Amino acid sequence: MTDWSNHFSQHARRAIPSAIRSLSEFPRATDSIPFGPGEPDASLFPVALMREALDAILTDETSARSALQYGPSEGDPMLRRLVAEHMNKRGVACAPDNILLTNGAQQALNLASEVFVDPDDTVLVQVPTYPGALQVFLAHGARLADVTKADAATRPALIYAMANFQNPTGISLSVEQRRELVTLAHRLDTVLVEDDPYEVLRFDGDALPSLLALDTETRSIEEAHTLYLGTFSKSVAPGLRVGWAAGPRVLIEKMGLLKQTEDLQPNSLAQAGLVRLLEHGLEPFAARVQAAYRIRRDIMAEALRQHFGNRGAWRVPQGGFFFWLTLPEHIDTAKLLEHAAKLGVTYVPGAAFTPDRSGANTLRLSFSAAAPERIAEGVRRLARAFDEYDQNG
Ligand SMILES: Cc1ncc(COP(=O)(O)O)c(C=O)c1O
Repeated sequence: MTDWSNHFSQHARRAIPSAIRSLSEFPRATDSIPFGPGEPDASLFPVALMREALDAILTDETSARSALQYGPSEGDPMLRRLVAEHMNKRGVACAPDNILLTNGAQQALNLASEVFVDPDDTVLVQVPTYPGALQVFLAHGARLADVTKADAATRPALIYAMANFQNPTGISLSVEQRRELVTLAHRLDTVLVEDDPYEVLRFDGDALPSLLALDTETRSIEEAHTLYLGTFSKSVAPGLRVGWAAGPRVLIEKMGLLKQTEDLQPNSLAQAGLVRLLEHGLEPFAARVQAAYRIRRDIMAEALRQHFGNRGAWRVPQGGFFFWLTLPEHIDTAKLLEHAAKLGVTYVPGAAFTPDRSGANTLRLSFSAAAPERIAEGVRRLARAFDEYDQNG
């Protein structure tokens, strides 16, 4: 058999599997409770509404033909307008041509890296951070560094940050911290990629301005250094694979050009479905998921308090999908996972989220995919696994 690995491009050689997707398969109990995947609960997808929307589109001959035809690379003009209006409501003065529709926020992240990152360039990230972003930057040959330790003398190719309910820590940045990041991007003369998939999932507290909203307070979006990434994956459904980038036109056009080489355009039918679904705005969908996930967040917060007590440290997130637990130094959460899986609960060890695989005593718990009535039991099992591991190693 041909050994293709000798023929792979540098880019292909640099690609690594997702630390989450490739977590080894431990023997686990059949009724395992999943705190691992950061995916939405499929029972919350607006199935009936989407069926109606697609049915209406496909029943009308003209809209059916258009929804099944090729479309513009930058995305459906109506959906670009809807997204621009959504951004306007969130304090960003922008027009439809400041929006690029993409195959999920993940593609926008990859396109942004293609635009800015050459091999050996530095990319500044929050530590810990989203493994899907680490995968993208490493595939482009970037050197990763902690944004809090930014070296004023070196211009990074890109800064990557989440301001709301960060994946994995669940923590949001204060307005002051947000302003500091925007100032840093201007001072270092680099692009600030703001990944904001969990924005719609705020359970308490007032919404804070996005990095792009702050960046455009005193300058036009064309002068901004922030490129905002949004998605319909958490508010509607990830299988649609529709997300967007919002930023200066020159960047949107360049990313659009690169997008043509990747997949020509976003999916026409998914975009048409979204346009119809969102006739009355995103708010009803946001309200529905907020209510459902708030209940889960509350149950997990109470269960952690009850079953974990002072055995670890965590903060209750104001939104999003995640709790981040820091356990005593001597605990290795990759090993603890073997015990936990046998007892019927899974999570993601914290080292999956750091560029140097540090943080062995941390872990991410997602409350999005487990049924609400199973969450307390999952945390109880995790506490039991912790006790067994702590006593016996
Ligand atoms: C921080 C972050 N960015 C991007 C994505 C990918 O989003 P999309 O489904 O829009 O590609 C995710 C998915 O969970 C995420 O957590």
